[in-house]
Amino acid sequence: MAAVSAPGSTLRVGCIGAGKMARGVLGGLLLSGKVPAQQMTVSAPSGTNLQYFRAQGCHTTHSNISVLYESNVIFLATKPHVIPQVLVEISSAVTSDHVIVSMAAGLSLQTLEELLPDGVRILRMCPNLPCVIQQGAVVFSRGSCAGPEEADMLKDLLSACGMCEEVPESYMDIHTGISGSGVAYVYLFAEALVDGAVKMGMPSAIASRIAAQTLLVSFFLTSRPTAAL
Ligand SMILES: NC(=O)c1ccc[n+]([C@@H]2O[C@H](COP(=O)([O-])OP(=O)(O)OC[C@H]3O[C@@H](n4cnc5c(N)ncnc54)[C@H](OP(=O)(O)O)[C@@H]3O)[C@@H](O)[C@H]2O)c1
Repeated sequence: MAAVSAPGSTLRVGCIGAGKMARGVLGGLLLSGKVPAQQMTVSAPSGTNLQYFRAQGCHTTHSNISVLYESNVIFLATKPHVIPQVLVEISSAVTSDHVIVSMAAGLSLQTLEELLPDGVRILRMCPNLPCVIQQGAVVFSRGSCAGPEEADMLKDLLSACGMCEEVPESYMDIHTGISGSGVAYVYLFAEALVDGAVKMGMPSAIASRIAAQTLLVSFFLTSRPTAAL
């Protein structure tokens, strides 16, 4: 797959936070070849999660501000309550060359814009756990200074993580309900199918495989109804 470029310059991706979602999203970019590891810098306070990125050949650091110096597209991937302190820390290093993409649930574009210098290009995305196997359902919205070029760039990048659509920001919390929490409901449903089968005498290992296959096939039939005909 061809590498993606940032609007106006070579793409260098940074990520502040190295946990599950950072790994899901950046892992997709690495696997797809959209961004080479040498063009990625990831920060976190401890070495625990950075190990994965180091093993992939990415630059890693404990300094969030270094991510700004090394990158032009920066994902914010800490827990939401940590984002305000991170933005205070990096604010002085943010320039018009940067595009900031927040993954934090519940943190509005307005709040992000208030915490960063005027004129910064900011986007807000909402991933879900299946991003870790490049089967995510990702939506994103643009801040007031991000234009179609930034939207196209992000869409191109995130297509490495699954489906990706631009939506009005008011859809973000709805997406968290159906797609973020939805995964847990599907697990619960699968568990109920397996429990029923076990009660009727089937061993749980084979019941789990059959339940998983049934849900997988149901998905294809739901998304392509004509395939059932
Ligand atoms: N998980 C989901 O399904 C999901 C879905 C939608 C949105 N999100 C959003 O994705 C974001 C990340 O969630 P997650 O599940 O990936 O969290 P996580 O696995 O707990 O990872 C959080 C990361 O942030 C790092 N961190 C903590 N304080 C920091 C600081 N001051 N500066 C830089 N990095 C710091 C942690 O460092 P250490 O490695 O040292 O612990 C860790 O690498 C959240 O804002 C969440 O709302 C998650």
